[in-house]
Amino acid sequence: MPKVTFVKEKKEIEVPAGANLRDEATKAGVPVYKGLDKLVNCRGFGLCGTCRVLVKKGMENLSPKTTKEKVNFNLHPLGMMAVIGHEEEMRLSCQVTINGDCSVETTPDLNLSGENFWQKPYPNK
Ligand code: FES
Repeated sequence: MPKVTFVKEKKEIEVPAGANLRDEATKAGVPVYKGLDKLVNCRGFGLCGTCRVLVKKGMENLSPKTTKEKVNFNLHPLGMMAVIGHEEEMRLSCQVTINGDCSVETTPDLNLSGENFWQKPYPNK
């Protein structure tokens, strides 16, 4: 059975292969939503983008990114902000099928204080 490690909570659980990451986290009492998002979310339909997780290890053991994830991270304003600097490792937990061991960070912060494209110095100065 695949093992999922939640790094923030320092919790490791075993899940059946093919399980959904959001469902398993919820069953284990690991929050995938922040604040009001616990109440206001799309309930796992891949539309709201509030169940984001950062995959720290084992991306190769997870299902490929779905179209809903690609749309959310490229067209939804909050999704676009959230994915900056984490383009490869950000996933929507409701869209992830677990096929092997992985390590994830739930409720990742937005990367607003890191170096972003709009913070880089003007090229001719
Ligand atoms: S719960 Fe809305 S995108 Fe995952």
